[in-house]
Amino acid sequence: MIPVVLSGGSGTRLWPVSRQHMPKQFCNIFGKALQTLTLERCQKMGSAPWIVTSQTLKTLTELNLRQNNMNDVQVVYEPFGKNTAPAIAVLCQVLLAQGKGDEIAGVFPSDHLITQESNFLKVVKFASEVAANNRVVTLGIKPSYPETGYGYIQTQPQGFRKQDSWEAFPVIKFHEKPNQEKAEGFIAQGNFSWNAGIFVFKVSHMVGLFKKHQPEMWGLVSTLKKDLSNLEEIYAKVQNISIDYAIMEKLGGDELACIPAEFGWSDVGSWDAVASLEKGEKAIEVQASGNFVFGNKEKNYSVIGLNDVIVVDTADALMLVKKGMSQDVRHVVEALNKEK
Ligand code: GDD
Ligand code: MG
Repeated sequence: MIPVVLSGGSGTRLWPVSRQHMPKQFCNIFGKALQTLTLERCQKMGSAPWIVTSQTLKTLTELNLRQNNMNDVQVVYEPFGKNTAPAIAVLCQVLLAQGKGDEIAGVFPSDHLITQESNFLKVVKFASEVAANNRVVTLGIKPSYPETGYGYIQTQPQGFRKQDSWEAFPVIKFHEKPNQEKAEGFIAQGNFSWNAGIFVFKVSHMVGLFKKHQPEMWGLVSTLKKDLSNLEEIYAKVQNISIDYAIMEKLGGDELACIPAEFGWSDVGSWDAVASLEKGEKAIEVQASGNFVFGNKEKNYSVIGLNDVIVVDTADALMLVKKGMSQDVRHVVEALNKEK
């Protein structure tokens, strides 16, 4: 399988560690950058990984690859971000031009944590076998609360193929980022998984889906030259849309399959998520408990009389947030942007 790592996203939900020029995938929160951890997993999938990312992240990407001796990784730099559908379309066209239309590709976000690697690699292998039969295969995560920032995959009750403890199910419908009410309804119904953002497919099959559901986008991307010299021209015209809306929401019946699986997945979408995954720095607590400190190993931290607070200490910013409220970091980022 050809692993493709999408790494062009920006985001500031982990401010003050993540910044516009230092998105989450490059942040060293779990000992290594999430992008590096993703690539290390992908290097175990049989063929050299690709990265699709933005030109503005070129320096960070090159540095990361060099520092980790990842010389076999090939990178496509987009002139600017147009979200995940054009990124995947471009990579399909690049692979097609190399005569790899019959190969299976797997698309992986670069900013997720996966703690059960061997389970993950096995389920990806199973997904690539299912995808050989011209289905797009998604990996589903058991939802634990009505998150509105994820896609939901509604599956048929009967699976069609089993392997080990996994089963592939036909998908009734893919619902990207529902509102709160819908998300609550999905959780109550039970036959819904969260979309982990991982898609496995045969390259020529995905090209067919782009032709059918995004003819305008494919019309542009299919004119891409082998040396990518006209990529900027194409990107100037191509629609900004995610693969979830552009393709996944349009599939149904036998076209899409979902394998619900557990592999210690987290999209690390907030400091609350980090605090639930990591121990943090040692802090002396006096009449205090449940606090989490992300900071500097060389420093002494102490918390007195406060419970359940997340402390994030960086060179130029300090943030304190009550556990459960870390999504509100966005208001800080908005305020800082206004000050600029
Ligand atoms: N190359 C490239 N270009 N990559 C991009 C771009 C772009 O313009 N935009 C985003 N990415 C990368 C991000 O870096 C990330 O690794 C991945 O594509 C997914 O993009 P996000 O922006 O993080 O998507 P999301 O979190 O809102 O939603 C997706 O992921 C959820 C799970 O975390 C969807 O697939 C949801 O359905 C899913 O539940
Ligand atoms: Mg994301």
